[in-house]
Amino acid sequence: MKGFVPTPRETVDTMVDLLFRGRSPTADNTVLDPGCGTGEFIGGVIRWCQRRRLPLPRITGVESDPCHLPALRAKYDRLRAVSIEHADFLEDSRTAYDYIVGNPPYVPITGLSEAEKARYRARYATARGRFDLYLLFFEEALRRLAPGGRLVFITPEKYLYVETAGPLRELLARRHVEEILLVREDTFGELVTYPTITVVGHAPPGRTQVVRRDGTTVTVKLPPRGDPWLPFLEGDVSQCAAVRLADLCLRLSCGVATGADSVFVRPAEGLDPALRPFAHPTIAGRELAPATTDLTPRFIMLIPYGADGRLMPLGQLGALQSYLLRHDVRRRLVARTCVKRKPWYAFHETPVLRDILRPKILCKDIGETPHFWIDRSGEIVPRHSVYYIVPRESATIDVIADYLRSPSAHEWLRRNCQRAAKGFLRLQSHVLQRLPVPDNVARAAAGGRPVLGAGARPLQAELSFR
Ligand SMILES: C[S@@+](CC[C@H](N)C(=O)[O-])C[C@H]1O[C@@H](n2cnc3c(N)ncnc32)[C@H](O)[C@@H]1O
Repeated sequence: MKGFVPTPRETVDTMVDLLFRGRSPTADNTVLDPGCGTGEFIGGVIRWCQRRRLPLPRITGVESDPCHLPALRAKYDRLRAVSIEHADFLEDSRTAYDYIVGNPPYVPITGLSEAEKARYRARYATARGRFDLYLLFFEEALRRLAPGGRLVFITPEKYLYVETAGPLRELLARRHVEEILLVREDTFGELVTYPTITVVGHAPPGRTQVVRRDGTTVTVKLPPRGDPWLPFLEGDVSQCAAVRLADLCLRLSCGVATGADSVFVRPAEGLDPALRPFAHPTIAGRELAPATTDLTPRFIMLIPYGADGRLMPLGQLGALQSYLLRHDVRRRLVARTCVKRKPWYAFHETPVLRDILRPKILCKDIGETPHFWIDRSGEIVPRHSVYYIVPRESATIDVIADYLRSPSAHEWLRRNCQRAAKGFLRLQSHVLQRLPVPDNVARAAAGGRPVLGAGARPLQAELSFR
């Protein structure tokens, strides 16, 4: 069963109301429910028409999972207006529909076979990066929507802001996204986080009505390209700020991924003194306690790289060489998949020590609220669960840290960051980079000099963000 999550009747009825709002379908109109499961939306369309004593339009349900077919056939076989197709909705088809309504499958890329991934990548603009099947369903549905038609889908809210959904936002923005409803979090119980109903007309772009979870509404103009929508939906004008955090930083990245922390990260206490030349204090997200500004790492990272970022030859590693060659250590290191492409004792990713070993601001990758710590000495090596922000001007590190800790920066991050479990914020570097910085803060952080904003940043090529 690929991505089967049935839609509750109340939500189905809301969506069918939106589908036919201001219109009355005729017997000649066509309605499609792609990935119809047990036919909840087919039932919803029938109820809607029966209540208004209207003839049924021609309804098609497409479902690829044969296990739903007996239930579907039992329910709808006697209705001439309904046809059930046992088919893959993501196969080529040219049939267009006047109305499309549904709850597409949520299947992450990890749930797809290699053949499926290759096929989807060849066919769909939305099959980019770590895509999810619901993005492809959206694209296919847009393709099959007849001119003047309307599409109503319920999906996770994530497509409004995740980078992977940029191509979908771009496709949607070519049509009229009539309404976006951020519906109750518990609509599907625990199964779908932050569900969202999207109403799209096959018509030129126009304004979009947004209904937020607190019931307030706003009408917005969505950006034409694949930019994240969430800030626009929340009426965040700070999106227009000229200077972004990236403009003030030399580097803004995720910490070091060794690929074998059990080997390279050791307790600082009791460390063999012969290993000290290769040992750098290191910190992981779980060691950053929101209640304290203190940074006293209890662990060190053994780093076989030189300050120039090059992996040192084994023969120059002295005591570290003996440690790495220990049978259990070597066995652990050669078992990593990354060593197919690099020397067996290399890190998963090359640590950019040149930038890392500088005064910097640290934050956890996931947290209930954003917190920032300052590593003034520049000695700490952040691990993969920590992001680090290296200001261009070390002397003004406090100006940037103070701004990052301010209510306005927190509010922006709250609106723009992806959510992890329990509503925690996921602080990713591409989001942090876009954090708007007020002019006065930018100027102070640059030591009083004016700062060039994004787009007018001549040094972009020498910056490294990931
Ligand atoms: C989230 S469920 C929704 C079911 C139903 N529409 C509802 O709302 O109750 C998605 C459905 O899509 C079906 N599905 C998954 N991949 C499909 C594909 N490629 N073609 C057709 N159906 C598919 C699944 O079997 C599942 O029944």
